Amino acid sequence: MPPRDAARGGFSSDAADMRESCRQSVARFFGIENSNAVAFTSGATEALNLAIRGLELRGKTVITTAGEHNSALRPLSALERAGDIALRIAPCTSEGLVDLAALEKLLCRGAALAVINHCSNVTGAINDLATISALTRQHGTLLLTDVSQSAGHRPIDCAGLDIDMMAFTGHKALFGIRGIGGLYVRDGLLLRPLKTGGTGVHGRLLTHPDRPPVRYEAGTPNMPGIAALHAGIACIESFGLETIAGQCEGNRRYCIERLETIPGLRLHGARGDCAYAPIVSFTLEDMAPEEVGYLLEQSFDIALRAGVHCAPLIHRAIGAEPAGTIRISCSYLTKREEIDQAIDAIRAAAETGGR
Ligand SMILES: Cc1ncc(COP(=O)(O)O)c(C=O)c1O
Repeated sequence: MPPRDAARGGFSSDAADMRESCRQSVARFFGIENSNAVAFTSGATEALNLAIRGLELRGKTVITTAGEHNSALRPLSALERAGDIALRIAPCTSEGLVDLAALEKLLCRGAALAVINHCSNVTGAINDLATISALTRQHGTLLLTDVSQSAGHRPIDCAGLDIDMMAFTGHKALFGIRGIGGLYVRDGLLLRPLKTGGTGVHGRLLTHPDRPPVRYEAGTPNMPGIAALHAGIACIESFGLETIAGQCEGNRRYCIERLETIPGLRLHGARGDCAYAPIVSFTLEDMAPEEVGYLLEQSFDIALRAGVHCAPLIHRAIGAEPAGTIRISCSYLTKREEIDQAIDAIRAAAETGGR
């Protein structure tokens, strides 16, 4: 635990205790030996920016995939447009998985970093991280993975998978609240911090502390977010990840079975042999996804996200270009009655055909 600065006052020691307890539970949850390798951020976006902008990438090649979220694509694209990096984008399969053969070809040409999603937030398809990590290691490329959509649904073991950096968000299946997430950076790899400032330690020095995690954490921490993440992980541990994964897969299959009975409905990327997080993407014939989303919300009080889901490049591979999809997203806590209610509303929307 970092030495405390008495001048931070009041209840700061309780907050510091909570922050370190949460750090330890995140580390345990993700198979990270040294909890100081986990830095808290405002979410996966900040974590990905910290990793991408914190590495010395000038003049180097970076590989990413068509399955990424804008939180990875936009900082990478900004570096490319500034002339700092050469960016190569590996295509996706029709499920939204990275095409491993194409990835390997790109790795053979040499790259400093590969930024690869664990799980698509559009189709729920889960990439084989063990194979991806072995490939990047074999080619001497650092691996930064985004586990925002899989964390809390599937076990992720950073040490076993030999991952270099991993970004996560707290507000999805980790049952936290919005505005919390983090970055794991393997021991020995140091990033340039995105920000410097008050840390509550070594307050007399004008230089920001060097060692992680304070190296990456400046300013007042988001304590409600950290406490929620801590409670969320405790909840998952009490349910058991295997139980969660089984229940979520049951919910996903139930959604698919029922959706397939709706005339004019097309599923996107839902039928692969891979593992899935409980997300199902679909479109309705002759209706724009946004129009369906609006109708479901206004007429049926069902909130389903519609459009490209901040992942603009995946839609060609899954046959949903240019308008994107409507996405059902279940959790361990979703009840069958709730799924039935959503599907009845989708059927009714399909019957109106946008009229
Ligand atoms: C795959 C993926 N990565 C990153 C993010 C961004 O996460 P955050 O909102 O914590 O910045 C999301 C958000 O929804 C996501 O689905």
